[in-house]
Amino acid sequence: MTHFDEALFGINQTKLLKRNSSQMNISIVGTGYVGLVSGVCLAEKGHKITCVDLDHEKVNAINNGESPIYEKDLESLLQKHVGKNLNASINLEEAIHQTSLTMICVGTPFKGDAIDLSYVRNCASEIGKILSRKSHYHTIIVKSTVVPGTTEECVLPALEENSGKSAGKEFGVGMNPEFLKEGNAIQDFMNPDRIILGGIDDKTRNELEQVYESFDHIPKLATNCRTAEMIKYASNSLLATMISFANELGNLCSQTPEVDIKEVMRGVHLDERLSPKDDQGKKIRPGFLNYLEAGCGFGGSCFPKDVKALVSHGKKSGENMRILSAVLETNALQPKRVIQLLQKFFPNLQGKKIAVLGLAFKPETDDIRESPAIPVISDLLKEDAHIFAFDPAAEKSMENCFSREQITYEATLNDAIKGKDAAIIMTRWKEFEIIPELIHQMNKNLILIDGRRLIDEESVPNYDGIGIGPKVD
Ligand code: UDX
Repeated sequence: MTHFDEALFGINQTKLLKRNSSQMNISIVGTGYVGLVSGVCLAEKGHKITCVDLDHEKVNAINNGESPIYEKDLESLLQKHVGKNLNASINLEEAIHQTSLTMICVGTPFKGDAIDLSYVRNCASEIGKILSRKSHYHTIIVKSTVVPGTTEECVLPALEENSGKSAGKEFGVGMNPEFLKEGNAIQDFMNPDRIILGGIDDKTRNELEQVYESFDHIPKLATNCRTAEMIKYASNSLLATMISFANELGNLCSQTPEVDIKEVMRGVHLDERLSPKDDQGKKIRPGFLNYLEAGCGFGGSCFPKDVKALVSHGKKSGENMRILSAVLETNALQPKRVIQLLQKFFPNLQGKKIAVLGLAFKPETDDIRESPAIPVISDLLKEDAHIFAFDPAAEKSMENCFSREQITYEATLNDAIKGKDAAIIMTRWKEFEIIPELIHQMNKNLILIDGRRLIDEESVPNYDGIGIGPKVD
């Protein structure tokens, strides 16, 4: 083990000795983002992992040490364990027979007005059929994000019907949500803030406890499946609420003379209940505060989908989720704010050359799912503006949304700024911090609209951003 590993994963030799004694054989169905990260990290923790997927190409790639998705440190960790603690296979039957616990990590995309459970249900049915031919006790854990009730009302019956066996006697059923941030997923898995062990009974929860035995000093919460499912949604919904709250206040600040949301939030953050002091009396800045900053809206594969799913679950349960509905409404309108700011300078955007800086839904990823840059580009195109897009990582992903005929993709930030009428910052990329320098060198007339409040207002000649009230002379 290298120093790098120890620093990243906080593993010491004692833990290594301990983990060998509790090695488990685990199969993971679905090698998407959650499945592969979980598989590789549990292999690092000493378990023997079989990753199962229907997609031959993905399985081959994984067995060759190539990660089908980009995530920091994922491929190097995969290469460390593939062929040893981790293998990929398309053979679910073999995987179930050779392991004692299976994690379901298949997708739950949002369709119509609810999450689509067909992959989860099919997966549970297939596992059920195989369980009918397995004589040993087996544990099935749902890791996919599913609305409360799904594990017991959809997965468990599918397992029972197809196996002819009963849950709680011949097999266990549990729910163990993930809390992985894109770009930080390995670190989040290896050093989690909590582990939720949901199960239909103590036996299942004990099995799950064994999976996470080597995660010392991490708070573990043993609970029922519905609570585990709800914790995941509650966590993401709270963060999304914080963002929309900050954005709504930012919008009000824009209408309030001499008030800047950045300063307001700085004042709010100083509340000791939000930023307590450490033992030396120094203020701690909890990561939570990153979600209390105004911007051009949240995106990604989780927040929008999870909040929508909870709102729709509320409807079905007879509860009107007023706050969360408003969180979504605020977020849907938020990207339009940058266009309104731009129109203060150019009421007519026709023919204007506009650089859109940042296409990914957040920095350090090439993921553009639900990125606020998408509605902004669409709206600008409707106004007949010429779009010049730049992103350090997400250009290729965005090409699936907007072709090279529709918009120009710039190779560098310099190119994106040169000769343009305006630029809009949509993503908080660190790379964008040099924008003031570039503006001074190449294009002093450029109007900079800051959707993330990344750049200091005074550092460029023509600036506006989310949440800045009008000046009073
Ligand atoms: C999130 C959760 O953080 C994670 O725990 C869960 O398991 C999956 O969903 P992720 O989607 O990777 O992770 O994104 P995160 O880093 O939390 O950011 C989400 C979005 O919020 C981004 O679009 C970001 O730009 C936006 N955001 C964040 C704001 O708009 N304003 C802020 O102040 C902070």
